[in-house]
Amino acid sequence: MSALVSLKDYENSAREKLPKSVWDYYSSGANNEQTLSDNCKAFSIYRLRPHVLNDVSKVNLGSSVLGTSIDFPVCIAATALNKMAHPKGEIAVSKAAESMKIGYMQSTWATTSVEDVTAAAPGAIRWFQLYIFKDREVSRQLVHRAERLGYSGIFLTVDMPVFGKRYKDAKNNFSLPAHLSLENLKALNTLRELVTVEGQDGSELARMAASSVNPSTQWSDVAWLKTITNMPIVLKGIITGEMAKRAVKENVDGILVSNHGERQLPGVPATIDALREIVQAVDGKCEVYLDGGVRTGTDVIKAIAFGAKAVFIGRPVLWGLTHNGQEGVRHVLEMLRDEFKTALQLMGCTSVEELQSGVNMVVPQSYFNLNL
Ligand code: FNR
Repeated sequence: MSALVSLKDYENSAREKLPKSVWDYYSSGANNEQTLSDNCKAFSIYRLRPHVLNDVSKVNLGSSVLGTSIDFPVCIAATALNKMAHPKGEIAVSKAAESMKIGYMQSTWATTSVEDVTAAAPGAIRWFQLYIFKDREVSRQLVHRAERLGYSGIFLTVDMPVFGKRYKDAKNNFSLPAHLSLENLKALNTLRELVTVEGQDGSELARMAASSVNPSTQWSDVAWLKTITNMPIVLKGIITGEMAKRAVKENVDGILVSNHGERQLPGVPATIDALREIVQAVDGKCEVYLDGGVRTGTDVIKAIAFGAKAVFIGRPVLWGLTHNGQEGVRHVLEMLRDEFKTALQLMGCTSVEELQSGVNMVVPQSYFNLNL
């Protein structure tokens, strides 16, 4: 096989290796997947305007998330069921993050417990992704376990009061392989109720989510969350300026501009298109990050130039994990870091701050049409 030199190569490799139902589960979006391709394509409508003849012999790629330094502004987004990609699953992913000094967000639906991830990667910057469950006690216990183990933030997913319609999973009757389990929920009495619910959707995960995640989740739950933990709280899944302003009122510490990798509501904007509206609405009162469709170093440049402190990647991590575990995830991260570094230098910038302080370094394609 020829060398893997881009995230696309890893995606192609994973498509070949994974069983169809797993590939479909990882790669697909909701309904007709309209926004899924938009997430990636939208980056290409923005153009770069480099500031040349600046000394870029020394660069600092570092940024920070929730006050913790990261070596470059790319972190790992929560993805469920990592052990379907590789037997080491979340352990391989968290160790790769640890070795690269970037942040790792662990999914509630992980196939490895928070305890085992912590034991394997104690030095990793770990955040926990949370849902508000119908039984709030489940959420409370997860938060307390993460806090005790030294996780340094909660990413509350707010774009999933109900589960999106995922045609491929329904068609495949997708279910968790028998040898795997949702390890974070295993210790809780409620697990049986979570996983055995009957329902219409062919996907077991959809039925499980429908029976456990609280569709009544609302702003007062964010306030409640703040009363049970001292960890900073980020809302994951804000995609409009209005909701971003509301989040600031609730004193959250950050907003992750995300459409769940288009697995929830089709027809929402690509995240790079929504980002500027949110940065403007927030006006520096909390941190803003982005995920969705980030696949190259210049994608990272564009999101950072528009005001994100960091970007997160979901599927590319699964492709690296499928290819060869921790090493594959690490290589995916290295490629993005190196592409980001080269692009930063070619933009005439030596740091994230310089990229963010430059005027019109990234503009929509329409900028040139107007200047004709
Ligand atoms: C996800 N995502 C997700 N989000 C979340 O809050 N909790 C979760 O358990 C999961 N699980 C999950 C599984 C899989 C297979 C995918 C692809 C995605 C969404 C994820 O955190 C992130 O928002 C997107 O994946 C980002 O888009 P890209 O990088 O995949 O394009």
